[in-house]
Amino acid sequence: MTSPTQLPGDFGTFLAYGADYNPEQWPAETLAEDIALMQEAGVTMVTVGVFSWGLLEPEPGRYDFAWLDRVLDELAAGGIAVDLATATASPPVWMAREFPETLPVDAHGRRLGVGSRQQYCPSSPIFREFATRLAGALAQRYADHPALRLWHISNEYGCHVAQCHCAESTRDFQRWLRNRYGTIEALNDAWGTAFWSQHYTDFTQVHTPAAMPTFPNPGQVADFAAFSDDALRACYLAEKVAIREHSDKPITTNFMGLFEPTNYRRWAPEVDVVSDDSYPDPGTTTAARETAFVSDLSRSLRDGQPFLLMEQVTGMVQWRDRNARKRPGVFTLQSLQRVAHGADGIMQFQWRQSVRGAEAFHSAMVPHAGRDSRTWAEVVQLGRALGRLAPVVGARVDTPIGLLIDWESLWHRQAAVGPGPDRGIEAIRAWHATAFEAGWPVDFLFPDSDFSGYQVIVVPELYALSDALAKRLQAAADAGADVIVAAPSGICDETGKVATGGYGRSLRSLTGVRVADHHLPAGSAVAPLGPEVDPRTDAISAVISHPARVDEVVLEAVRGTPLDRALDRMARPRPALAGALWAEELLLDDGVTVWAEFAAGDLTAQPAITHRRCGQGAATYIATDLSSAGRSAIFQVAQARQRLTSPRAGMPAGVERVQRGAVTFLLNHADTAAQISGIVGTDLLTGQAVTGHIVVPARSAAAVQQ
Ligand code: GLA
Repeated sequence: MTSPTQLPGDFGTFLAYGADYNPEQWPAETLAEDIALMQEAGVTMVTVGVFSWGLLEPEPGRYDFAWLDRVLDELAAGGIAVDLATATASPPVWMAREFPETLPVDAHGRRLGVGSRQQYCPSSPIFREFATRLAGALAQRYADHPALRLWHISNEYGCHVAQCHCAESTRDFQRWLRNRYGTIEALNDAWGTAFWSQHYTDFTQVHTPAAMPTFPNPGQVADFAAFSDDALRACYLAEKVAIREHSDKPITTNFMGLFEPTNYRRWAPEVDVVSDDSYPDPGTTTAARETAFVSDLSRSLRDGQPFLLMEQVTGMVQWRDRNARKRPGVFTLQSLQRVAHGADGIMQFQWRQSVRGAEAFHSAMVPHAGRDSRTWAEVVQLGRALGRLAPVVGARVDTPIGLLIDWESLWHRQAAVGPGPDRGIEAIRAWHATAFEAGWPVDFLFPDSDFSGYQVIVVPELYALSDALAKRLQAAADAGADVIVAAPSGICDETGKVATGGYGRSLRSLTGVRVADHHLPAGSAVAPLGPEVDPRTDAISAVISHPARVDEVVLEAVRGTPLDRALDRMARPRPALAGALWAEELLLDDGVTVWAEFAAGDLTAQPAITHRRCGQGAATYIATDLSSAGRSAIFQVAQARQRLTSPRAGMPAGVERVQRGAVTFLLNHADTAAQISGIVGTDLLTGQAVTGHIVVPARSAAAVQQ
């Protein structure tokens, strides 16, 4: 019996390759065929048991592990390691029948039923008790199993039910609030309950922000988001404790990128390896950008530690309105892109494509057609490629570019009523895209991160910001960083209390800017702008000029400024500088230079982009939702000021170049072959020496070791 490689350290010495494997959904004889196919494909690890609670515990407290024993034994004999799920993501039917109070309740008071998955209330002590016992029983039984490589607690916490409004959740929320505020007066103060007669006299009066006549209290909504995240994490931690009584193998739970309900920065210290599920839409031109985005985020959650891609699709998912299939080469290319950005393993959902159930039309490693398919050929190709990339395992990705995000700020932004559309996550994506297109991997930074060493720090719409964090940003600028702050930032403090005396006041000593008022463009160029006005009949309204439309936040760079020169260099004709959705009326301190002004509407000739030297570094402030060319120009200026040369310098269009340890990844996302010079080493994927020039075919990659 060959036992799977036992891996030291926090994750491993090989690149894990495999999938969710659900042998319980297939006849017993499929197992042997699957293992043979896994060996053919170079699979090294599979995730077993994610949705098998009903089989493992057919009635309360009675476990049946016989089938799982056989699966694990045979996988071990076949040299395949196992990421063993605790199976608690979807409770068995008996739980709903015998303990209906474990079912979650939505904001409209409807109890959700069985027949799908994830039907549990995270605060339910009954659910937690059963889940914890099962996790402990699995750990006790399999702690020393030769196949066991990693524990996989639950699955995608919160993906369907992130919040519950049942009586148990309400009581749990009340306990949580008591713990947070101590006294009901402190809660009243924090939520501003003098408003609309919301004053509470006792914690037992407080409910979850369920359906209400109109806008809920934003403090209540933001606290409920934080509470719900804590409730989910408590489920995870309870299972973790149960496992740790028997096993010291690494533990993970699969994250979902920048999923707003769960603050993964707080989850990350509780997992031994970050694992992530990611499904960029292959029907867009921005799937490579999205792949870089989620990979950079996953790598950053544990400050640069390599992560495991836990799920992606080989071809197409079934859950979008339109499900595009990955084009030839893209499965391997984007998998290698993830490795370049810090993945130490590439796992898929799932191994064998289902023939029944809601995911029958979700691609898998073994498609319905079997081996006789492009999918299978690509699966084998990727297995070979990953098998050759051992030199990158454990290696870090270094970058001087940081992007500051904060889940709690996103929650406050989402809870706020107005002042404009919430585009918090889109703004983060937009600024990440700017850096990606400029050729840079990006480290995500969080309020507790170490900012030292970053030369450019982008702060995209950090709506809620503490004074302490503002001071740390200033210290980073003083020490030499270029800090780029995009509005709306610092509108309120970390508790959600709106800043007075000028928004962004906490950032003032960094930016030299305060915001006197928001000035949002009304309407949209595509949507109708209110009631029709006919100039032939409506003698009054027809002459009232319209506030700027969404596509009319026109800016103009001030002549001779670095921004102006960057736009000149960017393209012919020179790109227009434009914003959308958001504009601010600024108050400037002395020593602040204006780089761009608003050029239309009521803010005409007022500052839109400002710049200020700070100690050894600088701060740029952007008072609108700047479009791509503008973001790029600002980024180019910061890059030049910092004397940074993009890793993409000299690369043909479509080629991303990422350095991970001693390996240079050349990722050609274009439809034509790329000729690249100045590269020397060995392409690990082909074994060929590279002596200065390499051709990377369309939609493929090279991994050149120096
Ligand atoms: C999620 C789940 C998987 C599967 C996939 C389908 O990532 O974790 O069980 O449902 O979606 O894309």
